[in-house]
Amino acid sequence: MLEARGVHKAFGPTRALRGLTVEIGEGEIVAVTGPSGSGKSTLLHCLAGILRPETGEIRFDGRRIDSLGDAARTTVRRENFGVVFQFGQLVPELSALENVALPLMFNRHGREESMLTARSWLERLGVEDCAGLRPGELSGGQAQRVAVARALVTGPRVVFADEPTGALDSLAGERVMDELTGTARESRTTLVIVTHDNRVAAYADREIVLRDGTVASAVTA
Ligand SMILES: Nc1ncnc2c1ncn2[C@@H]1O[C@H](COP(=O)(O)OP(=O)(O)OP(=O)(O)O)[C@@H](O)[C@H]1O
Ligand SMILES: [Mg+2]
Repeated sequence: MLEARGVHKAFGPTRALRGLTVEIGEGEIVAVTGPSGSGKSTLLHCLAGILRPETGEIRFDGRRIDSLGDAARTTVRRENFGVVFQFGQLVPELSALENVALPLMFNRHGREESMLTARSWLERLGVEDCAGLRPGELSGGQAQRVAVARALVTGPRVVFADEPTGALDSLAGERVMDELTGTARESRTTLVIVTHDNRVAAYADREIVLRDGTVASAVTA
């Protein structure tokens, strides 16, 4: 369902991905692990159509997305993907509730309905008390849970999450992982999670270990 084939991606002299190939099936829960700087975030951004590799192919449902223009890639993303970025990236001027409602409104849902759905996702992640706060007023862990709610709210076919529990204590981290994996199993959502945490990787069906921009090994749970 999701495929990277022979992908190279460099930032100036830094070769972040070096001929990387991975295939991810529909409904699969995959953990991407590996040392800092091994290319995990870069791979996630390439698979999610945010970054374009210099060479190689990215496919979603058999269709190449790396060769699409910006507008077409944005549409594919908006309609099919939810992304939790490593460093939050909530819209600072909007409340937590509005941040979560935004992707629904982009997909042409009404404001009222979007706000109601958004509120229920804040509840599921245990941050309903933060609904009216702006991102700058949230703790790191609260912001992270709001970002997870925002990624799940549209019922995407693929959720990409970059260290979604990095700022959380183990109890809140478990809750986030239960929501992510529970949602994935219920609705056959594909889940790609970048993590350093073995407990998080243990939720996955498969672990893809990166080293120096390529796959070091793939371990089946
Ligand atoms: N926007 C960028 N500009 C320049 N270099 C970058 C950029 N993004 C990533 N890199 C470099 O590419 C390499 C891979 O980075 P990446 O963020 O994919 O690593 P990572 O595995 O996610 O690391 P971490 O576990 O620390 O988040 C690193 O050497 C990094 O410095
Ligand atoms: Mg990273």
